[in-house]
Amino acid sequence: PMEETKPRNLGGSLPVPNVQDLAGRPDELAVTPTLLRRYVRPQPNTADLRPDAPAGEEQEHVPIIDLGRLLNPDGLAGGRDEEAARLRSACEDWGFFQVVNHGIPEETVEEMKKNVMGFFALPLAEKTAFAQQPGEIEGYGQAFVVSEEQTLDWADMFFLLTQPPTYRDLRLWPSNPSTFKTCLENYSTEVQRVAGELLGAMAENLGVRDHSDMTRLAASQSVRMNYYPPCPEAHVDSVLGLSPHSDAVGLTLLLQVSKVPGLQIRRKGGWVPVTPLPGALVVNVGDVIEVFTNGKYRSVEHRAVVNARHERMSIATFHSGRFGTMYGPLEEVVGDGEPRYRSVSVQEYVKLVVSSKLDGKNIMDSISTS
Ligand code: OGA
Ligand code: NI
Repeated sequence: PMEETKPRNLGGSLPVPNVQDLAGRPDELAVTPTLLRRYVRPQPNTADLRPDAPAGEEQEHVPIIDLGRLLNPDGLAGGRDEEAARLRSACEDWGFFQVVNHGIPEETVEEMKKNVMGFFALPLAEKTAFAQQPGEIEGYGQAFVVSEEQTLDWADMFFLLTQPPTYRDLRLWPSNPSTFKTCLENYSTEVQRVAGELLGAMAENLGVRDHSDMTRLAASQSVRMNYYPPCPEAHVDSVLGLSPHSDAVGLTLLLQVSKVPGLQIRRKGGWVPVTPLPGALVVNVGDVIEVFTNGKYRSVEHRAVVNARHERMSIATFHSGRFGTMYGPLEEVVGDGEPRYRSVSVQEYVKLVVSSKLDGKNIMDSISTS
């Protein structure tokens, strides 16, 4: 039976220092460089920026998908088929695209940005009123920290479950900024609609007759608001805002709140930056879509780099199936082939994810059949 509330005891992250607070004490950092020890990586982040790129080769750009065109009922005349083909190639070849003309009112997006900026600008004590509790993933803090030895990311995050409404823990929804709750609610509804429409178009492209086999991956939603403080100049190349990872969800729609670039995706052995495009959402195929499509669409690793002078914020909205359902390769996609992933319950999968370090595609390896 479908569970309408979220299960408890999904696991949590070890507590870590607040990075915004740390970054706000430059004099102390200058005299006590060991405060940064836990953030510094042995390999500089610049080492693998397209090592094999031929000289003079042009920088590739993440594809742009026009949702209005994709949903246009006029087929050929309205450019629908062409856009569907572009979506197919974006999913098969890139795992990432930016979606424009998505129909989310500009005001909804701008208000959401303002509220998230407003939240992170609050004094530390006001934010820590929403701190993650031990063993919980929701709240203000950090995720995926499983040992005292692991290198830490130069960021704070604020994570909330948003859909279905019964999954919400409203005690963690701030009332300062005063419009935060209503904005998040509006934004959440709009983004969930877009996620469902994109998943429906993917189902069509994949030849999955019952679109709900794919669109059920927009049944639940969580929001991860990321805050990347400026990082001291001397360390900017050896510190990451967010470790390389693929998203352990169905579909992610990310809003780059700041104009400062930072998101990079793994491609052909190097990293391609995703330049913030005004009004666009960055969409990426998550691990669960890779499982559903039996590897036809692959989740792509990405990371966030930091900037020496500017803070950066982003809002990642993750879509997944509901608790009480299963994840596994879709029969129609597997066809006569072999399933490359085993089936797992959503609950088992989420527990596995929460207890894992953010490390490339490590979770996929543990559910792979080969
Ligand atoms: C994430 C993520 C990238 C960014 O939150 O999963 O990949 O640019 N964020 O903040
Ligand atoms: Ni991500």
